[in-house]
Amino acid sequence: FAAVDVIRTKRDGGRLTDAQIDWVVDAYTRGVVAEEQMAALAMAILLRDMDGDEIARWTAAMINSGETLHLDVERPTVDKHSTGGVGDKITLVLAPLVAACGAAVPQLSGRGLGHTGGTLDKLEAIPGWRADLTTAEMCEQLTDVGAVVAAASTALAPADRKLYALRDVTGTVESIPLIASSIMSKKIAAGPRSLVLDVKVGSGAFMKTRENAVELARTMIGIGNSHGVATSAVLTDMSRPLGLTAGNAVEVAEAVDVLRGGGPPDVVELTLVLAREMLALAGISDVDPAKVLASGKAYESWCAMIRAQGGDPDARLPEPTHRHVVEAERDGVLAELDALAVGMAAWRLGAGRSAPGEPVQYAAGVRLLARLGERVAAGQPLAELHTDTPDAVPAAVAALSGGVRIADTAPEPGPLVLDVL
Ligand code: URA
Repeated sequence: FAAVDVIRTKRDGGRLTDAQIDWVVDAYTRGVVAEEQMAALAMAILLRDMDGDEIARWTAAMINSGETLHLDVERPTVDKHSTGGVGDKITLVLAPLVAACGAAVPQLSGRGLGHTGGTLDKLEAIPGWRADLTTAEMCEQLTDVGAVVAAASTALAPADRKLYALRDVTGTVESIPLIASSIMSKKIAAGPRSLVLDVKVGSGAFMKTRENAVELARTMIGIGNSHGVATSAVLTDMSRPLGLTAGNAVEVAEAVDVLRGGGPPDVVELTLVLAREMLALAGISDVDPAKVLASGKAYESWCAMIRAQGGDPDARLPEPTHRHVVEAERDGVLAELDALAVGMAAWRLGAGRSAPGEPVQYAAGVRLLARLGERVAAGQPLAELHTDTPDAVPAAVAALSGGVRIADTAPEPGPLVLDVL
């Protein structure tokens, strides 16, 4: 094959053959197909699309570019993936909860980039906790505790690692076939028997419209099922942040509140919806996750999960050196609290990074002090900004203010769970 012929085929709207896909993904991973050639092909795919068979083959080629894990665990394994949002600390509650219900949750997570937080960054706010585990350590923890949240090894789907970085700098992230195959290659390579997807819709998400989110969800479900991983998807609103915190330590604290029976109702609701989906796929029908959460058993699983990875669940979480309160400018109803604005503010404060590999501030983030739809009075605190770099506060205030609107009246906030596919 010649890379230029593969590019021309897709550029002209043709279908890539299985052999072309296998070759180009493998040759790119080995450095035989150049970055500029793969960039051109990614742009051709973005503009011309791929059909279901091409997407399944592309995903298989990405999985085959590296190792796949064989999890030697007796309990049924079930994973969850969120397409990313603001304040999405659901994994921190869900993994120990589903473990306490009898399944095993092997979750390989990532670090955040831009305004969406990364689960590993949040957990690393816990003193001593480490993300890097060997496969043997993961299996042992899955057997003993039932839940593990760890960094994905670089040996899993290396083609995706390379291609995602390239797409990031060539305007080719926003392609449903490329996003779906990217996410699913990593998830399938990690070897769970079943998978629940939380596909986000709205300002803070990759997918800004419901139509695109449904298409992404259906594409990922098709890939999962064609690889023998039972897959379902929940479509959820990400036009507002989840819960009342966005950042690292602040989100861990909120997740612990939920595990101890409190916490914001939307975080509890989504956790239970996803837990029920996961348990159904795992074939566990006789356990009610709401009861397990209330019993304190999920909190026990959390402590065990954190300790197994070197963390101290009782340790004090990092505190910021600087706090800044944002107040309501007028009386009225909090009519808008935009997810992207809150995410950008948390990022500006130091909770996120601009380039892979940069450090994050564990204490940085936003704590919301009023909920969407709540009546507020002029001067009332709306949010508390946390940072170790006070110079960042003006930019964070500007980012947040752009997404906060107080009006005389506001409609009831819409539902959080939009659809189950
Ligand atoms: N997340 C991924 O892992 N890949 C994408 O392409 C987009 C989001």
